[in-house]
Amino acid sequence: MSTHELLPEPYKIKVIEPIQAISRAQRQAAIDAAGYNTFLLRSDDVYIDLLTDSGTNAMSDSQWAWMMVGDEAYAGSRSFEHLRDAVQQVYGYRYVVPTHQGRGAEHILSKCLIRPGCVVPGNMYFTTTRLHQELAGGTFVDVIIDEAHDPDSQHPFKGNVDLEKLEKLTLEMDISKIPYITIGAPVNMAGGQPVSLENLRQVSEFCRARGIRVVLDAARAIENARLIQEREADQAGRPVKDILRDMCSLTDACTMSAKKDAFANIGGFLAVNDEGLFEEAKNLCAVYEGLHTYGGLAGRDMEALAQGLREAVERDEWVAHRISQVRYLWENLKERGIPLVHPCGGHAVFVDARRFLTHVPQSHYPAQSLSAAIYLDSGVRGMERGIVSAGRDPETRQEHEPELELVRLALPRRVYTQSHLDFVADGLRKTWLRRDEIPGLKFVFEPRYLRFFQARFAPIAAKARGGKREAALARGKQG
Ligand code: F0G
Repeated sequence: MSTHELLPEPYKIKVIEPIQAISRAQRQAAIDAAGYNTFLLRSDDVYIDLLTDSGTNAMSDSQWAWMMVGDEAYAGSRSFEHLRDAVQQVYGYRYVVPTHQGRGAEHILSKCLIRPGCVVPGNMYFTTTRLHQELAGGTFVDVIIDEAHDPDSQHPFKGNVDLEKLEKLTLEMDISKIPYITIGAPVNMAGGQPVSLENLRQVSEFCRARGIRVVLDAARAIENARLIQEREADQAGRPVKDILRDMCSLTDACTMSAKKDAFANIGGFLAVNDEGLFEEAKNLCAVYEGLHTYGGLAGRDMEALAQGLREAVERDEWVAHRISQVRYLWENLKERGIPLVHPCGGHAVFVDARRFLTHVPQSHYPAQSLSAAIYLDSGVRGMERGIVSAGRDPETRQEHEPELELVRLALPRRVYTQSHLDFVADGLRKTWLRRDEIPGLKFVFEPRYLRFFQARFAPIAAKARGGKREAALARGKQG
């Protein structure tokens, strides 16, 4: 048991879903069958599922109640009006295009604004966002501060944009080829690290003076607002909803995966202030997602989402509790000697696989291997966020080699309790104690797009990796 501060849940439990652990031998068979890719495990074979916080949240009784009154009309659904009104109220953008999830919004935005030869700067890549930019003919350029790539840096806002990198890009490029900048807040791939309001203000000023749009990736913007409240001196004490509105007012549009902050299991939207862009996006919505009053969602999904959004900002306790759970797990893991990304982020704990598996070079996919080993040891499912997720350059087909080689343990909202988190921390300790035995991996199947989702791997034989003596010593210490 840990003494770290964990806020009490601002809810009580009304419905439960049984979970059951399978044996280690069964887990070994399951991870072999899954090609050492936690995305390919059956969820019934997982005990604690920290694969993602996306679409895995527990809805409130009010969300379930709203689902009953969903308007399933093909056109002109009243549920769309509820969603639109909630988005306008919570985020403040003028126009709303519903989509089935975040990547639907990224697809439409990229089609509307990117032409071949365009460059889209952003504060670190996100997998689906960058892919849609590339498929539209654009190139992503990373303009995040250097600290973001260093797991040890204690910078409180590692999601910040480096204004010098951004300025350099605008001086080197024809500005008309920079249609917008994407701001992830917080930055998923950097460890859930937030952007400060001050930095967003500077980016906004810089871009608006040059006619470059600022697009917020709002998937977890409420969590970013909470981290601003906690860490930015002049923002302490302000309600999260006001900080969020300030963040949005500094941007021109947002793409939203509503499967995160909004406590929903599915849904997304594109929200914009520019009427011309809205008309074009609305039109493409009908092509790729569904009519602009449902965008691939059922009426009941839009109701659950609208209620989830209202709920998420009505009391700061929701997001405060959520982040305190993440921090509780982070502190417990740190105490057990597990190397982590510092400081703790908003939605997940990120384990530093480079320092966990020092004997596995990046070319043998240490974070992929570590995520499989964690599952094997305790039935806890996380995911790789390193070289496998980073993928290949679309032209040269060379692998991107990110500094950060991480395993992410993401906490679904309102799903797990303190004892689950303690179990996870103990489970990772087991993996830590046998770390020298964990082999690197090689690809046996590599899909072309977003390879991390469907790739298959096999362990590299022990003799090829050496280090047997250390492994034997480590085993001796445990025994
Ligand atoms: N942007 C961010 C920052 C995300 O984390 C995600 C999804 C998306 C966009 C795409 O949204 O999945 O609704 O299409 N992140 C999930 C995750 C998959 O596990 O981090 P989507």
